[in-house]
Amino acid sequence: MAVSWVCVIILTYNLVFGEEILVEFYPSQSLLDTQYKIDTKREIKSNDIPVTEYNNDTKEINWRQFNQEEIDDGEIHKRALDPVFHGHPKTREEKWNEHFINKTTTFDQIPSLVSLLHNISATYLTDCTPVILYDSQVKSKESYLVQNLLKGFPMSFIHGYIDDNGELSQPNLLHGNSDCQNYILFLSDVRLSAKVLGKQPKNKIIIIARSSQWAVQEFLASVNSRMFVNLLVIGQSFKEGDDETLESPYILYTHKLYTDGLGASQPVVLNSWTHGKFSRNLDLFPPKMTGGYAGHRFVVAAANQPPYVFRRIKSDLDGGNPRVVWDGVELRLIKLLAKRNNFSIEIIEPQEPNLGPGDSVIKEITMGRADIGIAGMYLTNDRIKEIDVSLPHSQDCAIFITLMSTALPRYRAILGPFHWHVWVALTFTYLFGMFPLAFSDKHTLRHLLHNSGEIENMFWYVFGTFTNCFTFLGKNSWSKTDKITTRLLIGWYWIFTIIITSCYTGSIIAFVTLPVFPETVDTIKQLLAGFYRVGTLDRGGWEKWFLNSSDPETAKLLKKLELVPNVQAGIRNTTKAFFWPYAFLGSKAELEYIVQANFTVTKSKRAVLHISNECFVPFGITIGFPNDSVYSAKMNFDISRMIQSGLIDKITDEVRFEMQRSLTGKFLAVTHGAIQMVSAEEKGLTLEDTQGMFLLLAAGFIMAGTALVSEWMGGFTRKCRITRKVDTPVSVNSREHLIPTPKTDTESEIKMVEDTDSRLNFESRPSTAASRETLNGLVINVTEDSIDVHNSFNVGRFDSRRSSSLDLDREVREIFEKDQKRRRFTAHDMESLDENGGTVSRAAFGDPIKPDK
Ligand SMILES: *[C@@H]1O[C@H](CO)[C@@H](O)[C@H](O)[C@H]1NC(C)=O
Ligand SMILES: *[C@@H]1O[C@H](CO)[C@@H](O)[C@H](O)[C@H]1NC(C)=O
Ligand SMILES: *[C@@H]1O[C@H](CO)[C@@H](O)[C@H](O)[C@H]1NC(C)=O
Ligand SMILES: *[C@@H]1O[C@H](CO)[C@@H](O)[C@H](O)[C@H]1NC(C)=O
Ligand SMILES: *[C@@H]1O[C@H](CO)[C@@H](O)[C@H](O)[C@H]1NC(C)=O
Ligand SMILES: *[C@@H]1O[C@H](CO)[C@@H](O)[C@H](O)[C@H]1NC(C)=O
Ligand SMILES: *[C@@H]1O[C@H](CO)[C@@H](O)[C@H](O)[C@H]1NC(C)=O
Ligand SMILES: *[C@@H]1O[C@H](CO)[C@@H](O)[C@H](O)[C@H]1NC(C)=O
Repeated sequence: MAVSWVCVIILTYNLVFGEEILVEFYPSQSLLDTQYKIDTKREIKSNDIPVTEYNNDTKEINWRQFNQEEIDDGEIHKRALDPVFHGHPKTREEKWNEHFINKTTTFDQIPSLVSLLHNISATYLTDCTPVILYDSQVKSKESYLVQNLLKGFPMSFIHGYIDDNGELSQPNLLHGNSDCQNYILFLSDVRLSAKVLGKQPKNKIIIIARSSQWAVQEFLASVNSRMFVNLLVIGQSFKEGDDETLESPYILYTHKLYTDGLGASQPVVLNSWTHGKFSRNLDLFPPKMTGGYAGHRFVVAAANQPPYVFRRIKSDLDGGNPRVVWDGVELRLIKLLAKRNNFSIEIIEPQEPNLGPGDSVIKEITMGRADIGIAGMYLTNDRIKEIDVSLPHSQDCAIFITLMSTALPRYRAILGPFHWHVWVALTFTYLFGMFPLAFSDKHTLRHLLHNSGEIENMFWYVFGTFTNCFTFLGKNSWSKTDKITTRLLIGWYWIFTIIITSCYTGSIIAFVTLPVFPETVDTIKQLLAGFYRVGTLDRGGWEKWFLNSSDPETAKLLKKLELVPNVQAGIRNTTKAFFWPYAFLGSKAELEYIVQANFTVTKSKRAVLHISNECFVPFGITIGFPNDSVYSAKMNFDISRMIQSGLIDKITDEVRFEMQRSLTGKFLAVTHGAIQMVSAEEKGLTLEDTQGMFLLLAAGFIMAGTALVSEWMGGFTRKCRITRKVDTPVSVNSREHLIPTPKTDTESEIKMVEDTDSRLNFESRPSTAASRETLNGLVINVTEDSIDVHNSFNVGRFDSRRSSSLDLDREVREIFEKDQKRRRFTAHDMESLDENGGTVSRAAFGDPIKPDK
């Protein structure tokens, strides 16, 4: 067993990177102890060249002999012992002492260190794969240590070699297939660690320093150590006296970050290890920065992005001394963190603001000019790659902003109360309403057929009931009808009309004063149906999320996307849209803020904006830190605590509350005394609201004007008028003026219809006991003012119908007497009236009256 073996099984396997990395595994300690002996000349000649490989096919393990370039025949040569006694005999023990013990009076520290590392690994490094790295000194002079360490290492591990320049022979080892890697470094110069590992804010770093304690302490106070958070440095303490036979303890150091305002760090002695035991029982990787940052000043890059960051310029009351004031959700969040964790902030503005708020702030961070970046940044994959980001503290998404109503123009207000269905139904009701009336009254419609005057009368009658403003008292008026059916019909028409009219009036009042609860645009379907044009910010990036949308409607809508330079322009486009409505696509939080801040008190009702309910592409809002910054994990943790405790919600609510103030800076929500509701509706009607009525009037004037012109020119309207004059009866009103006689005792009246085709009607109504029944039960009471005198009055018929009644004779005589009286009475009145174009005939009662012309 004289030959020592170094057992190196080199397995080849692929890491994620597709490159082959050689990882060495060692057999267990017990195997080695029982079978092999380590040679005194511990040197690995060529560790890098894989001498043999594990062959999967043959499953043969070829052992390479230590210090042997070529594999020999495998014969084991026994050590030759000379049996001949030469000189003073020495016992084996003496020889042993002489050759071994005296030479190794120095206490072997290596087993102590190995057990310490095994203990730490088993206790603390179980979460991630440890990466063991050693430099050339360890590799050449202390390979025994590494071998012993690796032999019994309590878990699977990766190991690699650091060359003299501090470069890893296999740099991929630093970027394993998972983010989580712990490191154990054997370094002759502890300062090299920063160069080897770079910034390591999360992983646990154990450095076994082969340098002096002073070097270790210096390192822990230096900038280099501030690249690590979970750092443990193991150094060997000085021996007591010169007694090399005693075990010297290992001292475990860590550092304290942010011990003063400049962000310095200090070495801290954590523990010591001797005789296989720790001197204290404590956590070797204590949480860092728990005591805050000792007033350290962090540079915060901020860009205006309401409501997360506001940048406002405030000046004194006299307008002087302008200064920038920062506020907003994220700023308050950072300030709260600063207060809690004892740091201060200095806000800088990005040097390249034209990149847009988010990107310009990220630029500041990546250029190393800022420690924290706030600009309401969306958490995207690209940004995660560029910088460290916090947990998303708020949510935002894309929404559309449109005008509140579908912007029904006010000139349509007069039609507004009714849906067009109602208008059509109403028109037909009133157009055809005259037929049942006419029929019920005369039990025939024949009198309508050739009598346009009758139709006109009826139309005005029906229309009069609708508008409630005409009381038609023409000779064809049915208001004095005695037919029950007609009266019923009229009654029901009247009720119907009253209700419809009050609906209309009530609704039009509401329509022009308060906007009817408007139809709001909330979905893409509505936008498409309303022929909306859509705009968005040219560098907001929103369009990217929609362009390749699989939703056909979204794709269709956003095909004609228009880009505007800023949000104000987008909102202006929306409110000023004339022919086609306009929708602006942007960040929900920002647009909500703008709408609340700037459009709660508006001059025009058309500036009331609506934010769609549909929320596209939700994004988290995050705070940025430089890549692998030491404090980002701690801040992230604090932010997550703030989210969990609801502090973020509180801040958001507070900011929103303060947003809702008027342009003058007054809070809308808080006033002295009561809460003041500012409603846009509490004002008088504007010209805009009433333009419909004016337009209607103007239309009437135009029509009348055309008629007038045509009459002047002697057009067809004149002819119409002539023919109508022949047919139509004289105006009732004019005659009422003519006959101002006091009422007589008789209360019934005779109504004579000039219709020549129909039979003569004496229509009367029994109303009082004074009336007398005559002629088939009809009561005929004739008063002077109730006699209508018409042209083409046929006396012959009159006589023929009432021949046999004495009463009738007497009454007729009375009528004629009264008629004479009346003629005398009104003779001079008539003269004047005739000059005015009156149409009452001068002929004697009973004579057929000729038309005036
Ligand atoms: C290695 O050997 C094992 C067991 O015989 C077998 O399952 C595996 O496929 C082999 N791998 C290769 C790469 O040959
Ligand atoms: C071994 O050490 C002892 C005591 O330290 C000393 O007396 C003795 O001479 C040493 N033997 C040799 C061979 O050096
Ligand atoms: C490490 O050493 C301590 C003694 O200081 C012991 O209590 C503990 O069990 C050891 N841990 C492991 C994993 O061996
Ligand atoms: C913040 O840190 C400084 C420096 O260590 C210290 O003087 C100060 O008292 C700390 N403030 C708080 C509130 O802890
Ligand atoms: C930050 O780290 C990522 C990889 O984690 C890298 O791609 C990026 O370039 C780094 N950014 C800076 C500014 O170093
Ligand atoms: C959209 O699709 C085109 C090709 O189909 C592709 O080049 C482009 O990168 C896609 N854009 C996004 C934002 O996915
Ligand atoms: C929207 O605004 C932009 C920039 O102000 C302007 O160029 C564009 O013509 C506007 N679009 C509409 C439809 O008003
Ligand atoms: C609000 O309106 C004022 C005046 O029009 C304008 O200066 C300001 O930029 C607007 N604020 C926002 C957030 O749009």
